[in-house]
Amino acid sequence: MGAVDQATTGGYLERYDEALARDPISAFGLVREWMRTDWRSLFAELRERRPVFVTPAFTVVTRFADVAEVLSHERVFSVRAFGPRLDAALGAPFMLGRDATPMNWREKGLMRLLLAPEDAADVRELTGRLADDLLDAARPGGRLEAVHGLFRPIALGVCARYFGVPGPDPRTLGRWTRAIVADGFANFAGDPELQAASVKAGAELVGHVRDRLAEHRATLSAGGELPDDVFARLVRTCLPAGSAVTDDRIVVNMAGLPLGFVESAPGAMVEAVEQLLLRPRVLAEAMAVAADPGRFDPYVWEALRFSPFFKLLPRLCERDHVLAAGTPRATTIPAGTFVLAAPASAMFDDAVVPEPGEFRLDRPGHHRLFFGSGHHACLGVHVADVVIAETVRRLLLRPGVRLLPPPAGRVERTLGIFPDAFTLGFGPERKDG
Ligand code: HEM
Repeated sequence: MGAVDQATTGGYLERYDEALARDPISAFGLVREWMRTDWRSLFAELRERRPVFVTPAFTVVTRFADVAEVLSHERVFSVRAFGPRLDAALGAPFMLGRDATPMNWREKGLMRLLLAPEDAADVRELTGRLADDLLDAARPGGRLEAVHGLFRPIALGVCARYFGVPGPDPRTLGRWTRAIVADGFANFAGDPELQAASVKAGAELVGHVRDRLAEHRATLSAGGELPDDVFARLVRTCLPAGSAVTDDRIVVNMAGLPLGFVESAPGAMVEAVEQLLLRPRVLAEAMAVAADPGRFDPYVWEALRFSPFFKLLPRLCERDHVLAAGTPRATTIPAGTFVLAAPASAMFDDAVVPEPGEFRLDRPGHHRLFFGSGHHACLGVHVADVVIAETVRRLLLRPGVRLLPPPAGRVERTLGIFPDAFTLGFGPERKDG
């Protein structure tokens, strides 16, 4: 199975060093632009020539071992930068904005218990039903805008039926998650309008979850039945006295589930589908086994390795730390600086991942960093796993799914990150513009 678009244009470091000497702010602009458009070849050059890439604005960490070191040292490389934005939206702390606190430990444990890996089969079935209904409805057009026609409705449907957080309607819930996640993770310039929109959306989301909690409690005290979902499970859970999981904490954690899911799952679906459709031979192999999810899913995970949705995970360095100590690339990261750990690069580090440019199905799970790693590793991984893979499978099982040439087929993204449109050919071929 062959490699696709692994061409290295090279020369980034020369251009960067020259810009830095001449006009530092333009050097920063160059790196930001390359990370958006040329990340694959930029990372290849950095891994080879400057694996810990220190700039005046941030440090980019590109090798597998070093990315793992950053993500596993939560007291040195913290998520403190996420805290204020998420706190402002939710009105209280959430696990992804805190490191190594008792609250983080306790609530991640509780939510892991509720998001049981054993639910995977039911969630897959739910996803399959949602996907087929949407795909049946889409059939006549000859084209499918997959983000709003398939990926987001599925994520929002899973929120409603599995998490038990439907929002007043899917559209409103989707508007809330976009506003909060965009400000929390992509508003690098601190745009006050994005911040205000997030605070407003957060208050509405929290209010909605609070109302549902009150409804559930009222139903229980009237002797009624709760639905079969994660929220109801949490409401029915009897926790040890003094465990400090108050109703306020229940509300924040339930509000956190759609935030973790509704933007990232469609993001990952876009990447996986695009990577598979770019490789006709791999796609043909995947479709030959598509009746069996167990054999099909590894194609989705390998596709996602080639383009993970979260290419960089930001951290704040809390104290001076020698990264990659004892190796030739050992570098002191000074306290107070930003560090961008790059899973998208680490998963192509041939010191750990053999033949990284090859599409291979035999890679071990610990080479996959697209759900993070270490202290903040994804809470929803078991759910996300089946929702992503089953959505991709149901889509590709339909005849004639294909990429369209730009501009029609270009992925449109808000803030360069969150997909808003991904139009695919669908059904019998026609003239695609
Ligand atoms: C059921 C759906 C999901 C839920 C409920 C969820 C929730 C979460 C939460 C709460 C965290 C923070 C955990 C902590 O701070 O300890 C997290 C981390 C993470 N999630 Fe998910 N998530 C979901 C789906 C996804 C998807 C689809 C992706 C992308 C493929 C993803 C990628 C990540 C990554 C990369 C991190 C680590 C962030 C970091 O270290 O900075 N998640 N997730």
